[in-house]
Amino acid sequence: MVEKLSLTFKARKAIFNRTFKHRPPPACPAVRDSEKRNRRAGRRLSDVLSFIDSLKNTTRPTVAEISLQAIAYNLRGIREKVGKNVKIMGVVKANAYGHGLAEVARSIAGTSADYLGVAFPEEGVALREQQITAPILVFTLATRSQAHLYSEFNLEATVCSLEDCRLLNAVGEKSGKTLSVHVKIETGMNRIGIQDKKLNRFLKSIKKMRRIEIKGVYTHFAQSGIRDKKYTKQQLSNFYGALEIIKNANVSPEYIHCANSGALLDMPETYFDMVRAGITMYGCYPSLESSESIPLLPAMTLKTNVAFVKWIEKGESVSYGRRYFAKRETKIATLPIGYADGYARLLTGRVSVLIHGKKFPVAGTICMDQIMVDVGRSDVRVGDEVVLIGKQGRSAISAWDVASFIETIPYEIFTGITSRVPRVYV
Ligand SMILES: Cc1ncc(COP(=O)(O)O)c(C=O)c1O
Repeated sequence: MVEKLSLTFKARKAIFNRTFKHRPPPACPAVRDSEKRNRRAGRRLSDVLSFIDSLKNTTRPTVAEISLQAIAYNLRGIREKVGKNVKIMGVVKANAYGHGLAEVARSIAGTSADYLGVAFPEEGVALREQQITAPILVFTLATRSQAHLYSEFNLEATVCSLEDCRLLNAVGEKSGKTLSVHVKIETGMNRIGIQDKKLNRFLKSIKKMRRIEIKGVYTHFAQSGIRDKKYTKQQLSNFYGALEIIKNANVSPEYIHCANSGALLDMPETYFDMVRAGITMYGCYPSLESSESIPLLPAMTLKTNVAFVKWIEKGESVSYGRRYFAKRETKIATLPIGYADGYARLLTGRVSVLIHGKKFPVAGTICMDQIMVDVGRSDVRVGDEVVLIGKQGRSAISAWDVASFIETIPYEIFTGITSRVPRVYV
């Protein structure tokens, strides 16, 4: 795919010209005066600029290859598991867990996913600017400077206090629109959420706000991925308690939801009206203890090519700080990827990569833009493909493998891959 995108100069120019042809005609006074048109033109220009940017980037051999088919496959598995009556929210926050917000959302919205979940309203705005019309829930709380985005871009808000609701209601009053909110219930995560002792008064007050509609009620689990489900069951029981209060207050939200990937895999009793699928959608299990009750395909492959190969003598050191010494005469391959791409420096001395379907250790300190690999006597050459996360031949290095070396989780590995690494869709 990288090959396909390495276009000749002529082809690039042709695409550039074609894209520019769609620009609005040169500004006449009427056009200049039309704010709407100007905004559209601005968007087109930014599309063109980011397009040119992406062409520049795809000349780089280091890419995160994203399989949209794998994401579709995972969502089919999730659909099979939850049945046709439960909605699926595709969680696309944090640049779709590093997989590319717009591309992933475009491929799932309104088809394999009924709803989208983002962390911040700005992510929702980016989706709307891609003409994505599916309902979008924002997980974090609106601040004063963000509140207007919810009405302008038809985003659904998370609320857990009267202050949140007053802020959004004021925006609704001003814009003449009713804003949909999902009440977040505190059940044991202690991040954001309303405690049940405050719920009754909260519901009574919210009823008086003309521009707020409670569309959903939800909570979030703290450790649904682990084998022992005791705490998650306790959270679920607390959630039921809150639902009882809500019912008694004559509030009937359209959506009750709480299942994240861990619950989705192992606890059908948490499905209610909708599940919120994050890491499973990207083909990764949320914990090493969760069941594999849904077959998943990893969507991301992090790869590059060998840039340079040389022999070094026994006893020579490699990289900054001289932390690696050759035990014998050996070949060192240099790769154009480093910690500024999200390949953490902490992986130094712990991680391997795949070349010709075989694992070779990273030699010496991971640099900002390059790493070295000890390939021994193998016939590794400049231009050979290297897989850092993913499959090559019969071998694989999973995101869990990489994460475990540095005591983190695949979520952080995926989201840590920086914007310098082009995402290539296959
Ligand atoms: C509120 C909320 N729901 C759902 C998810 C998805 O979680 P997971 O990726 O474990 O499925 C997240 C992610 O952290 C979240 O914050």
